[in-house]
Amino acid sequence: MRGNSTSINLTATENRTIIAEGVEMVFQAGQQRFQVLKGIDWEVKRGDIQLLMGPSGSGKTTLLSILAGLLTPTVGQVYLLGEEITSMSPAQLTRFRRQNIGFIFQGFNLFPALTAAENVEVVLNVKGIRGSRARYQAKALLDQVGLSLQANQKPRDLSGGQKQRVAIARALADNPPIIMADEPTAALDSESGHNVIELLRRLAKEGGCTVLMVTHDPRIIDVADRVAYLEDGTLRAK
Ligand SMILES: Nc1ncnc2c1ncn2[C@@H]1O[C@H](COP(=O)(O)OP(=O)(O)O)[C@@H](O)[C@H]1O
Ligand SMILES: [Mg+2]
Repeated sequence: MRGNSTSINLTATENRTIIAEGVEMVFQAGQQRFQVLKGIDWEVKRGDIQLLMGPSGSGKTTLLSILAGLLTPTVGQVYLLGEEITSMSPAQLTRFRRQNIGFIFQGFNLFPALTAAENVEVVLNVKGIRGSRARYQAKALLDQVGLSLQANQKPRDLSGGQKQRVAIARALADNPPIIMADEPTAALDSESGHNVIELLRRLAKEGGCTVLMVTHDPRIIDVADRVAYLEDGTLRAK
């Protein structure tokens, strides 16, 4: 994954999974220029559950998308696992994302025609795991999120909480070192919300996974290692 991307000193970054330096984001709509992020310097430590909070419209989803390499900042650098993603080519970035980041974004993005198990399998396939190995791992991932009995159901036959758990099973496919989640419990009832939180906590604390999450859920604040607030385009830790 080196390619043309810049690697910074790994000993200096090994405990910092995510680093943002001077990140700014400006959206342009016609003559209107709207600066959402004004100079974000940030580090997320390995194995932490890091929350990102802030008012609606403050730029949380924008920042998460930039840190995930889904959106290019107007100014600034992002390093993930010691690699500068902001200097990667689109192809390098896609490969890097597939190998290293599990996404739980809003909306479930499940394929309606596929069963829960098949929805997980396609993600494994993209990661190069195929055939019976993919079927076996998809089953194991659905077990892990408590959906063994729903493996052969299609999204329309699943509740909101169950769909979200399929989305989480997909994000966990092939044990990515980084999980990024945008309000993962927002659409869930209290029990499935609790299950999802417990699962994310276990991943970080037992799996060494770094979890970066946008959330308003007070139950997640209880299990978080750190909370950062985004307001007026700048970040403050608390
Ligand atoms: N692609 C875009 N083009 C123009 N404006 C955008 C775009 N994406 C987000 N915005 C604006 O940026 C601001 C921050 O949006 P967002 O990151 O979704 O906030 P949050 O997730 O904190 O609610 C909002 O005012 C939103 O309208
Ligand atoms: Mg948002």
